[in-house]
Amino acid sequence: MPDHPLEFYDIGMGGYYSALLCPLMEGDNFLGVIGLFKSFKRIFRPEERAVAILIAQQVSYSIENIILHGDLKNQNRELRYQKEFTEKIFNSINSGIIVIDSSRKVLAANPYALGTLGFAEEDIIGSDIDKFIPGFLTTASSDRHEGYFTLCNNKTLYLGFTISHLRDMGSLHGKIILFKDLTEIMDLRKQLRRREYFSAIGEMASWLAHEVRNPLFAIASIARILLKKTGENSEWEKFVTSILKETGRLDTLMDDLLQYGKPLKLELEMVKLNDHITEVVDGLRPFASEAGSEIAILTSQPELMGHIDKDRMKQVFYNIIKNSIDASAGKIEIITEKTDNIINITVKDNGRGVKPSRLENVFTPFFTTKKTGTGLGLAICRKIIEEHGGTISMDSIDDKGTRVNITLKM
Ligand SMILES: Nc1ncnc2c1ncn2[C@@H]1O[C@H](COP(=O)(O)OP(=O)(O)O)[C@@H](O)[C@H]1O
Ligand SMILES: [Mg+2]
Repeated sequence: MPDHPLEFYDIGMGGYYSALLCPLMEGDNFLGVIGLFKSFKRIFRPEERAVAILIAQQVSYSIENIILHGDLKNQNRELRYQKEFTEKIFNSINSGIIVIDSSRKVLAANPYALGTLGFAEEDIIGSDIDKFIPGFLTTASSDRHEGYFTLCNNKTLYLGFTISHLRDMGSLHGKIILFKDLTEIMDLRKQLRRREYFSAIGEMASWLAHEVRNPLFAIASIARILLKKTGENSEWEKFVTSILKETGRLDTLMDDLLQYGKPLKLELEMVKLNDHITEVVDGLRPFASEAGSEIAILTSQPELMGHIDKDRMKQVFYNIIKNSIDASAGKIEIITEKTDNIINITVKDNGRGVKPSRLENVFTPFFTTKKTGTGLGLAICRKIIEEHGGTISMDSIDDKGTRVNITLKM
């Protein structure tokens, strides 16, 4: 298509006899024509040609602009869509993303990162990452890492993370930290390891108890015969009595070992909890009065029902209350209550308490601070409570008292 106007005469089409057609061009692209028509035959004057060319040029520019504008709008829309898409991923991904610049200042952190670490965006953005997660970057190279971190807000988390370099046109600009909070998984791993460990101990305990029981019974029986044979005041009497006392102690240990090693099979039934605890307390009253302890059951829900194995839970209450009596508690309070489908049972005493360094060991089998203790009481309690789907924990202040908390699901 020529880029100059074309003139036609004698066309006689639609009542027009003269036509001047100016092409509309965008660079080399032909967009259309603009025409000047006359109803009579006359050669177009130079100024008419000039005006027609000018109009054609203006229209070409306008069309070109419209096309460019349309392209730009499309590009803008595409960019906006891509930005929104990236933001959506950044905001909804179930992993933490923190972007830092080359001077370790935080450029961006996604909601998972802020929520998990417990920081507000305005606090963390623009600040040195080391201030929030001390030692984080020094521990990590660009490989995969896992570890415990104590944050500046005193939260301790087990984080699994990878660090990648942030590159822009080949040059390094900072780092992208991608992490996941593995604290809960770590706790489960520990629990699993603990269960495996304790179940191995349990098996060994059962085997040992069976092996020791029979010879122990024989020794005790012979000692009893000997005691009868030795006359009163005989110097042998105190030795034989000592044998009987020690075999009695071993027998208690074997009982506990068997209890601990036995696989639990609960027989659950609905039980009035306060009545059940009262039965255990009544059985312990003689020990309590001998030790000068007073036991009270406090509840705002006297009719509280629990879905429990009666005999096993009796053992739990017995062990815990007996421990309070052993700790020379003057006052022992048992508090039962229900909140949000959870039953809370607390045994509180004002006895000698547990030293902080020992507190984490009290549920470990064979941990005891008593001369004649087996260290299996609380280990058995935990096994029974966990089998019920509940939890048991202890807090204590040295020389002030101890509180054992049990939760059971309704
Ligand atoms: N109420 C309590 N007050 C003080 N110490 C306690 C109490 N309950 C448990 N303990 C501590 O926990 C240890 C373990 O208790 P337990 O497993 O019942 O074993 P045992 O009673 O045979 O020692 C006790 O030896 C004692 O040191
Ligand atoms: Mg005990």
